[in-house]
Amino acid sequence: MGGSLHKQLRAIWHRAVMLLQSSLEPVTPRKILVTGGAGYIGSHTVRLLLRQGHDVTVVDNLSKGYRHNVPAGRLHEIDLSDTAALTRLMKAKQCDAVIHFAAFIAVGESMREPARYFTNNVAGSLSLLDAMVQAGVKHIVFSSTAAVYGNPHTSPILETFPIQAVNPYGESKVMVETLLGWFDQIHRLTSVCLRYFNASGADPEAALGEEHEPETHLIPLALRAVQTGKPITIFGGDYTTPDGTCIRDYIHVNDLAQAHILAVEYLLNGGPSDQFNVGTGAGSSVLEMIRAVEEVTGKKVPYVVGPRREGDPPSLVANSQKLRDRLGWSPQYADLRTIVAHAWKFAEKQK
Ligand SMILES: NC(=O)c1ccc[n+]([C@@H]2O[C@H](COP(=O)([O-])OP(=O)(O)OC[C@H]3O[C@@H](n4cnc5c(N)ncnc54)[C@H](O)[C@@H]3O)[C@@H](O)[C@H]2O)c1
Repeated sequence: MGGSLHKQLRAIWHRAVMLLQSSLEPVTPRKILVTGGAGYIGSHTVRLLLRQGHDVTVVDNLSKGYRHNVPAGRLHEIDLSDTAALTRLMKAKQCDAVIHFAAFIAVGESMREPARYFTNNVAGSLSLLDAMVQAGVKHIVFSSTAAVYGNPHTSPILETFPIQAVNPYGESKVMVETLLGWFDQIHRLTSVCLRYFNASGADPEAALGEEHEPETHLIPLALRAVQTGKPITIFGGDYTTPDGTCIRDYIHVNDLAQAHILAVEYLLNGGPSDQFNVGTGAGSSVLEMIRAVEEVTGKKVPYVVGPRREGDPPSLVANSQKLRDRLGWSPQYADLRTIVAHAWKFAEKQK
């Protein structure tokens, strides 16, 4: 009881410090190590960090990411499992904090190959944490996911909802969140776990965008369908939602990136370990998204309605009030059409 009151008071105090600091420009440049910085969300975060004057070092094994996503001279091709190389790099760069994106991310694949997911996502993160302890780096922002909540019965989802992942991907993130708790208790290594909903959109200037292979996300698939004329499949049209299709919370990748930067500052200012949802709080159905794609592109999205996909909850929408209140975050690109327009600009550039 006393411990939780103490924690709350510390959080309030740190929020006050952060608000004061946010009014005092310029921002202190930080030395940040970003794992998975050649991937989709990582590369957008690296771009934003550099723009805000921070010194960034990227670690990526390029298993899924792309060299062209990382500015010259910043990429270190290292696998998360190489604890010694990570330790050497963090010592050499005198890192202040780590932002940890590197992971495998496909739910379906994790159901077929759980060992690969647990090895890469859990053992990989453990190796990184071990390296951080050896290098004396004390703060980490971790890419967690709405998948830690499994199939919640109600939405919007609060951070206090039960943690009950329903696939190895989500479970791998739960396990890392647990590891982080122990590393805080034992090594005083503080962490922020950001539980993202549906990352989407692209850099407004189209310098970066979403290039997953294989692609499983709705917006790039719908845009590809517009470009190729090949229909996409909607998984289920008979849900208990207004138009029968699943509702998700689409969060612009740059708004997500900004949440990481705020979380790093929060930790470096002494904020205690915590977990935050990152979403807009507004749900959009698959058909609403298809309509938005049609409006932005001026073309029809060819699609067929197939059966439901196992494990897909009807609605996943975040309550991100805690992130807004404690870290002062607010999304800049919450409008669906803006998200789609940025993704479309990138998709057209790729042709
Ligand atoms: N995309 C989403 O909607 C979403 C939603 C919730 C959570 N997340 C989480 O956000 C993070 C980033 O997702 P993304 O969409 O940018 O994925 P991504 O696949 O584009 O990026 C992941 C990057 O990590 C690298 N990587 C993977 N394993 C590695 C290893 N062992 N060592 C070094 N590098 C390695 C890959 O090469 C890739 O560049 C992931 O942790 C993911 O679980 C993503």
